Amino acid sequence: MRKIILITGANRGIGGAIARILAADGHRVVGTARKLSADREGDWLQFDLRDEGSIKLAADEFGKRFEKLDVLINNAAVMLDEGMDFEKLDTGLLTETLNVNVIGTHRVTKTFLPFLKKSGDARIVNVSSRAGQLNDPMRVSPAYCISKTALNGLTSQQAIEFGGLGISVNAMSPGWVRTDMGGSQAPLSVEEGADTAVWLATEAEHSLTGGFYADRKLIHW
Ligand SMILES: NC(=O)c1ccc[n+]([C@@H]2O[C@H](COP(=O)([O-])OP(=O)(O)OC[C@H]3O[C@@H](n4cnc5c(N)ncnc54)[C@H](OP(=O)(O)O)[C@@H]3O)[C@@H](O)[C@H]2O)c1
Repeated sequence: MRKIILITGANRGIGGAIARILAADGHRVVGTARKLSADREGDWLQFDLRDEGSIKLAADEFGKRFEKLDVLINNAAVMLDEGMDFEKLDTGLLTETLNVNVIGTHRVTKTFLPFLKKSGDARIVNVSSRAGQLNDPMRVSPAYCISKTALNGLTSQQAIEFGGLGISVNAMSPGWVRTDMGGSQAPLSVEEGADTAVWLATEAEHSLTGGFYADRKLIHW
């Protein structure tokens, strides 16, 4: 079935690959970017996860073009403290990271929820990271790791809250991927990094909800 799928941060990296794969599979993909490029093709909305007003304007624009949303893929995020020691982590940087990666994701989900409610088969996929895992914590980029742990918490809460609305919600980890964020030494291509998100968005059983996935398998929070 052809789905209407909104992907944040679809202008580059893993979000770009998710968008290309889903569009090639015949889905109607709406990408979001902070800046829209002049040579863009397809459907795009412009907003910044930090700016609730810009997200609301984009949702109004979405509503003029579409009646419902089948899948929301919350992919956009920042890593502002790469390799930083925990001792040097200042509160401003932690606040900014949480504002984009966690509260920004909540802003987008909350704003587009009315369209998801109209789907009848809606899904939310939150692009998280093993860096947020509590059972095997990583010692890299503490603000980023904390934000992904919090995003997993958001996912779990959304799954409980939206279950009654027939919306499945899962988090996934793409692995270490060659992007601006992941760097050139990462082992995975953007297409490989996109795979589990694409699966959760389309092929996975709708009854799967409230989980954290990597390589299409459930992993520990
Ligand atoms: N790469 C990896 O190894 C890796 C590993 C685990 C998890 N992840 C996760 O995978 C997702 C995609 O990562 P990536 O590697 O593709 O990153 P990326 O190449 O750095 O792309 C990040 C995307 O997020 C957007 N973004 C950042 N701040 C934003 C804001 N305030 N408002 C709206 N959009 C914003 C960027 O838009 P602009 O172009 O405007 O900056 C860009 O489209 C992220 O959630 C990341 O945490 C990545």
